[in-house]
Amino acid sequence: MEEKLKQLESTFLSKISDVQTEHELGSLRAQFLGKSGSLSEVLKGLKDIDPKLRPVVGSLANQIRDRMESGIKAKQADLESLEIAKKIQEEKIDVSLPGRIRWMGTVHPLVQVQDRIVDIFSRLGFSYIQGPEIETDFCNFEALNIPKNHPSRDMQDTLYIDENRLLRTQTSSMQIRAMLSEPPPVRLVMTGAVFRSEAVDATHSAMFHQLECLCVDENVTMEDLKGTLEFFAREMFGNKTKIRLRGSFFPFTEPSVEVDCTCVFCSGKGCKVCKKSGWIEILGAGMVNPAVFEKVGYPSTVSGFALGIGIERVAMLLHDISDIRLFYENDIRFLRQFL
Ligand code: DAH
Repeated sequence: MEEKLKQLESTFLSKISDVQTEHELGSLRAQFLGKSGSLSEVLKGLKDIDPKLRPVVGSLANQIRDRMESGIKAKQADLESLEIAKKIQEEKIDVSLPGRIRWMGTVHPLVQVQDRIVDIFSRLGFSYIQGPEIETDFCNFEALNIPKNHPSRDMQDTLYIDENRLLRTQTSSMQIRAMLSEPPPVRLVMTGAVFRSEAVDATHSAMFHQLECLCVDENVTMEDLKGTLEFFAREMFGNKTKIRLRGSFFPFTEPSVEVDCTCVFCSGKGCKVCKKSGWIEILGAGMVNPAVFEKVGYPSTVSGFALGIGIERVAMLLHDISDIRLFYENDIRFLRQFL
């Protein structure tokens, strides 16, 4: 019986050295140490041997079982570390390879300019609102005191949807919506896309963006408009910027002005951008025409000013961009310059 046990151990040892996987190790364990495994089989013969020899053979069997157990444990550990080594090998990262660059999205240059202007007016207490791109004839023309025979109402300039609806040609339409929905005082800054039936070239687009301000209260004067414009010009183009008002005409303001500021590039000395004049036109403005207040049902005791800025125009000036189409093509090489 002792012989059988030793035989068993040596078979076990030679088999375990061939084991390659945890699964094989599991079967080996069952084969030798399981309930009906080889060791149990041999030990069944224990009852047939001389009782005096039983303790000796029994203790030998126990030693062999312990050695087999620890052999299996050791093999298990070996297999595990082999597995880890294999994984490390497979998942090895070559840290010397150049990384993959993930480009971050950026704010579009037009939105950057818009955000800056909105921020300046917000600091003066103007609230930001938006309005629909599909407008009524009333908000876009009628209530803005633009008469039926006005050339801008021509099909050649305005994109109509039907007789009463059109794509807004100016953000001034939002002034009307705002005044129809809330009583004075109002102090609003508004932005959005506007549409015109326009042939597209380097300086014209059928769709572009405007920013509009409206301030209505009692005793709002031209002086308030001028102070607001001066603050805006300094914040936007630098502390030394001066403004100049030139008489102009818009149906919805009376008086109306065109606003120039000293050239951002030559500080008024005269250069290519300002065509040697030292001044650059940046926006249209004026005192709200009482006819507009009448259309929206505001009392005759109020007064106000309004102003409108072309966002593309300001962005083109600031960044020295000569073709408006660049804003809409979304060429990543162009956009990446405005991080
Ligand atoms: N709506 C005018 C345009 O599209 C711009 C404008 C001029 C807006 C004077 C104003 C303003 O609010 O007071 O040309």
